[in-house]
Amino acid sequence: MMTNSFEYKDRIFISCQDTLEGMKSLQDNSIDLAIADPPYGASTKANWNLQGNHDLPGMGGAWKLASHDWDMLCGVEGFKFTFAWLNELKRIVKPSGSIWIHSTYHNSGYVNVACQALGIEIINEVVWYKRNSFPNLSGRRLTASHETILWVHTGTKREYLFNYNEVKAASFSEDQLKEAGKQLRTVWDIPNNKKKDEIQFGTHPTQKPVRLIDRMLMISAKPGGRLLSPFMGSGTDIVAGFRYGMNCVGFEIEKEYFDLSLMRIKEEILKKESSLF
Ligand SMILES: C[S@@+](CC[C@H](N)C(=O)[O-])C[C@H]1O[C@@H](n2cnc3c(N)ncnc32)[C@H](O)[C@@H]1O
Repeated sequence: MMTNSFEYKDRIFISCQDTLEGMKSLQDNSIDLAIADPPYGASTKANWNLQGNHDLPGMGGAWKLASHDWDMLCGVEGFKFTFAWLNELKRIVKPSGSIWIHSTYHNSGYVNVACQALGIEIINEVVWYKRNSFPNLSGRRLTASHETILWVHTGTKREYLFNYNEVKAASFSEDQLKEAGKQLRTVWDIPNNKKKDEIQFGTHPTQKPVRLIDRMLMISAKPGGRLLSPFMGSGTDIVAGFRYGMNCVGFEIEKEYFDLSLMRIKEEILKKESSLF
């Protein structure tokens, strides 16, 4: 029997509810880092799909265009919603903290304008380059191969954490654009495929690979800090944050995805507890 919320010591709290409601329960300046992966408004009513017997190199098996009710976002209402959750994040995230926001061209305008209207300073705009992205099935557009990620902070004095030396020293086996000892650029070459353990309980249609979130944490997180994932989906942020040693809070409105998150998170807890013995 699955529940609507779950707590593990003071390390994890997740709840199946509207994020605007959930965030109301969080105190001002109580979060060190937030990772927001909101609805993009990329869903359409179109019904494109690609059968599994295609011969397109590097594109795997069957594909189908995403179309989900939770992803419908448009017009003034789309902007109002974006403004509302960003306004809550501004209240909750410490001035010394920061926020990562995923977007595509569908919602990146809303996010950018809302940040500027709220006085949230953009630190960087990152292009997440996806080598193995979804093909364009209509043949009427270029193949979309990137997502835009904004790194922003709510302070007035640029006190946000940047683990500069660690990031500069790092290299990543799959990223052909980053060499150890060189500054990290704003284009990240990170394939979008997931490892077996990331999908062992099922998948979310816009699930992010853990190594993308790991990179955000390396840049801006500290173990023992508090992480908020306002649009949890399959729980990727919570899984990565827990492994990093953070205390994590997450909200997800769809029960199906909340349950998926819960299974992934419980598995992480089991792994951690068994490693103690
Ligand atoms: C882009 S997906 C997040 C995917 C996630 N990063 C992952 O790796 O699985 C956005 C999620 O936000 C959820 N969502 C949409 N509106 C919401 C709301 N008002 N409150 C809470 N969750 C919401 C959707 O159900 C969806 O699962």
